[in-house]
Amino acid sequence: MTPSESRRRPFIAGNWKMYKGPAEADALAEALKRTLTGQAQVDVAVAPPFLSIPTVVARLRHSGVHVAGQNLHPEPSGAFTGEISGEMLRQVGVTYCIVGHSERRALFGDTDSFVEKKVHACLRAGLLPILCVGETLDEREAGQADAVVSRQLAAALGKLSSDQLPSVTIAYEPVWAIGTGRVATPAQAQEMHATIRGWLAERYPAFVPRGMRILYGGSVKGSNAAGLLSQPDIDGALVGGASLVAEDFLAIVAAAK
Ligand code: 13P
Repeated sequence: MTPSESRRRPFIAGNWKMYKGPAEADALAEALKRTLTGQAQVDVAVAPPFLSIPTVVARLRHSGVHVAGQNLHPEPSGAFTGEISGEMLRQVGVTYCIVGHSERRALFGDTDSFVEKKVHACLRAGLLPILCVGETLDEREAGQADAVVSRQLAAALGKLSSDQLPSVTIAYEPVWAIGTGRVATPAQAQEMHATIRGWLAERYPAFVPRGMRILYGGSVKGSNAAGLLSQPDIDGALVGGASLVAEDFLAIVAAAK
């Protein structure tokens, strides 16, 4: 059996970015809860803005839907004005945390080495990191996509043991497909997902690449989700815009079943 062949449990995560204050977040969470409570075929998580997290955690209790952070600071506490730690996220009931999103890399100065610190901080705090990697359009057109993604993987994951790695979910989010409506074709996404799994297979025992989930992110919608999710190395989706409307997000979850 190749690493691609074993079917992993699908995982659909919604990244709400800087949308949905507490009242709106509560309404969206309630709508999701109505449909998703009790379904056991797909792992689902939502990542609200920090301020809305306690409301969403309370609303989604007993629904089976997980709550994720969008970012964290590597230190557990300290004089870091404006920051939130993994320990704090854990205390309010968060289970996953997105790390290294391209918006943070491009707009907030998250370097490869800072992303690595955040991955380790997640694991220390008992959070499951969702590590985002992906190339820009210029990098793709210059034929550097594989090299960029491999560099990001090596920087963020290189020091993790094969016991730690299975706690990580990888999200391949080509920057040119984020918020642009320009989705990678299933074949383009599959190719990079296979490259990522291959990168893991070269460095770790077979159970690591076989078990780890690799999500695709970038303009995923109900209408294109099935095609992407049918690919052997695409184990789920990290959804931005379409996660802000319950029926749009639920259509993506349904496509993963
Ligand atoms: P869109 O789905 O809006 O393209 O955003 C993807 C994303 O950045 C998820 O983290």
